Amino acid sequence: MSESRVFVTRRIPEPGLALLREAGVRLEICQMIEEEGVTREQLLAGVRGCDVLLPLLTEPIDPEVLGANDRLLGVAQMAVGYNNIDVAAATELGIPVSNTPGVLTETTADCTWAMLLAVARRVPQAHNYMVEGRYKLWGPNLFLGGDVGIGASGRRKVLGIVGYGRIGQAVAKRSIGFDMDVLAFDPFNRQAIDADPLARWAELPELLAKSDFVTLHTPLTPDTHHLIGEAELRQMPKTAYLVNAARGPVVDEKALVVALREGWIAGAALDVYEDEPAMAPGLAELPNAVLLPHIASASYDTRGKMAEIAAHNALCHLRRERAPNVVNPEVYDTDAYRRRTAR
Ligand code: DGY
Repeated sequence: MSESRVFVTRRIPEPGLALLREAGVRLEICQMIEEEGVTREQLLAGVRGCDVLLPLLTEPIDPEVLGANDRLLGVAQMAVGYNNIDVAAATELGIPVSNTPGVLTETTADCTWAMLLAVARRVPQAHNYMVEGRYKLWGPNLFLGGDVGIGASGRRKVLGIVGYGRIGQAVAKRSIGFDMDVLAFDPFNRQAIDADPLARWAELPELLAKSDFVTLHTPLTPDTHHLIGEAELRQMPKTAYLVNAARGPVVDEKALVVALREGWIAGAALDVYEDEPAMAPGLAELPNAVLLPHIASASYDTRGKMAEIAAHNALCHLRRERAPNVVNPEVYDTDAYRRRTAR
């Protein structure tokens, strides 16, 4: 392995780097500064000089990048989402692509609930009020918010989950303590909904119209791009909240700003943005938005494990072995893969 090179685009947590070092791999880490990304030139140069690429979701891995090195044995992304990678192009070129699924499910579900509670009970706004020294006298109208549990109304709230994969299901599980009814929509996973006594299937319009909280857990695909736009936001009750810890472009962010400003819905909590890290004009000024910098999976344990899994996948690519988390397994049967790995 000593001649093998893995190009890690940015500094990943130590457990992943340690695994690669222990395997005797030569590591090229492009960007050690946490908040600096890699330039296009750095990315292309790094790919040209490596055997395996270990990128993050911040780098577009497009046909030019994938085609820059005909010795590239694999792409081992450190993220569960891989919409930044042109997987079809990778398959055509014979390059296996892997991700880090499963390990971040619970952590992301926890953060979804933190966001849901924070936006309903206006926690960040109340915190700012305190630290800005504005709290002078307790008042019965101070920071009124929506109930998540039954509350004084005695009404069970409805949680609408869009995307019922691992994370959506983990979010549903956490609703038990709040005595909620769960509606779920996922055209690619109807079986999981039907099999889960916690949830009832609902088409998207019904889910939007009946939910007090709508939370998004779909991957970003052409089908889910702007899944929630003006029409969908208008279908939600004025008292409802939207939570997005999936991918920014699943929501039409400009339409959301109007919806929040004009009170079509009560609030939104976002961890992801359409044009990340930029936000749609006006979003940051809204009093009913809770905004996080894409941290839903950011626990020490989970990010460490994600780095380790990405590193393990990278080692499999290097050894020309089937990677456990390959997202394009059909690649192994292609002539392009056989040619690439015979070199
Ligand atoms: C992912 O893994 O896709 C998340 O967005 C970041 O952890």
